[in-house]
Amino acid sequence: MKAYTLIVCAIICLTSEKCYGKSKPKPSCQYPPSQWCKTLEIAIECKVQKQCLELNATKPDPADPKVVVGLYYESLCPGCRGFLVRQLFPTWVMLMDIMDVELVPFGNAQEQQHGGKYEFLCQHGDEECQGNMIETCIMNVTEDAAFPIIFCMESSSNVLSAAQPCLQLYAPSVKWETIMSCVKGDVGNKLMHMNALKTNALKPPHEYVPWVTINGEHTEDLQDKAMSSLFSLVCSMYKGGKPPACTGALKKLDRSYC
Ligand SMILES: *[C@@H]1O[C@H](CO)[C@@H](O)[C@H](O)[C@H]1NC(C)=O
Ligand SMILES: *[C@@H]1O[C@H](CO)[C@@H](O)[C@H](O)[C@H]1NC(C)=O
Repeated sequence: MKAYTLIVCAIICLTSEKCYGKSKPKPSCQYPPSQWCKTLEIAIECKVQKQCLELNATKPDPADPKVVVGLYYESLCPGCRGFLVRQLFPTWVMLMDIMDVELVPFGNAQEQQHGGKYEFLCQHGDEECQGNMIETCIMNVTEDAAFPIIFCMESSSNVLSAAQPCLQLYAPSVKWETIMSCVKGDVGNKLMHMNALKTNALKPPHEYVPWVTINGEHTEDLQDKAMSSLFSLVCSMYKGGKPPACTGALKKLDRSYC
């Protein structure tokens, strides 16, 4: 809830002169809200140190294992896009302190080996193979920004043409050429082969996509619950102290209203 408050506040601050008082309007700091509490220095620069101290103090105990949500999917499969955009990403935004996401783009694709290299055949054609590969390389090259970039692509009208602007938006320091050299080179080929191995090692084997695993496990019951309310499922699977987002408990914190 707190991170969300900060984000909302940032939007209000960025669109309102009031926030800056009488001085020249300028951005409050050069970091996105997701990084404001990463270090004390950033928190001070972004003028949110008080909020970050509280946020840090109310964080779940890192000793309690996070719920790992695995998604086996294809970049152009409508059902996969719907689940990623409308369930997985929003749930992660709210519950990232208690959950990790593992994305494996491959799904019902097929691979064949040709002289040390792999060739891929995708259910929704070559474009889908491209999308799978771009997303795989984005995960390999960008770190924290990978999921927002993939969400940005999957929520766009054209997944492939959104890739470059989405990268620019969330990882401005990463060059598109870096992603492309992975996509076209041996690294991408090897990473996609690893996606194939991971997908083909699923137990039970996947029968469709999107195929969801929770802490590495897939059952029909978990899949149904994930599809209808992933948020509730993650809250219920988390063994540590439940965060306020799960319980609805009120916390009297020093909210950062602008
Ligand atoms: C929040 O906690 C992390 C990890 O314990 C620490 O590295 C970071 O500096 C803290 N942030 C602030 C603003 O105190
Ligand atoms: C990226 O891929 C290379 C080649 O497979 C691997 O060595 C490296 O660990 C990967 N990096 C990340 C962050 O996954």
